[in-house]
Amino acid sequence: MNIILFGAPGAGKGTQAERLVSERGMIQLSTGDMLRSAIASGSELGLRAKDIMDRGDLVSDDIMVGMIAERMDNDDSTSGYILDGFPRTVAQAEALDEMMASRGDEIAHVIEIKVDEAALFARIENRAKESAGNRSDDNAETLRNRLVVYHENTAPLLPFYQAKGKLRSINGMTSIEDVSSEINKILG
Ligand code: AP5
Repeated sequence: MNIILFGAPGAGKGTQAERLVSERGMIQLSTGDMLRSAIASGSELGLRAKDIMDRGDLVSDDIMVGMIAERMDNDDSTSGYILDGFPRTVAQAEALDEMMASRGDEIAHVIEIKVDEAALFARIENRAKESAGNRSDDNAETLRNRLVVYHENTAPLLPFYQAKGKLRSINGMTSIEDVSSEINKILG
């Protein structure tokens, strides 16, 4: 079963993806983590991505779609993929549909983790204090832009997936355990 964990920056996508990896053996495909690895390796892509991520803007659709396609080709999953941070635009979602169809596969659920904006700021501020600065986009100014970008480019995917009957929205304002249990109810 392949799923998309969907939500604004700080909603808890990465946290819940990690739990599903350990509980169900699914493969997490986090485009943010892939880009951070590219930055850490000093690759040309990493150098180009760093400025974009530091501003809170989106890396181009072509690069992101290519990255996911390559990972799916190399990481064959029998337990399913958890897409975390991808797709983020309608163009990425359409490319994902094509990728899935060419594998004879599909996305089972798009799980939207809903969190109020004030809580998102509090979570990101908290993570910035605890994480010794390994997320240079975790500051209030960049988060404000990440949220603008989310509402303009990524939120339009909600009606896109609603129309396909795939969207499941859950309350992300509860504890990590409670959010996890809501996700597990959906996955069965
Ligand atoms: P990315 O790495 O995907 O970041 P994001 O979407 O902004 O999400 P975060 O990782 O900040 O939050 P999250 O929802 O995973 O929450 P988390 O579990 O960490 O993307 C970074 C950048 O890369 C983008 O801005 C863009 O530039 C680029 N990029 C990535 N993908 C792209 C794409 N497809 N196309 C184009 N560009 C792309 O939790 C946050 C904090 O809250 C943690 O400290 C956690 O412990 C805490 N927390 C989690 N759940 C709870 C809870 N229930 N209660 C209390 N605290 C909680």
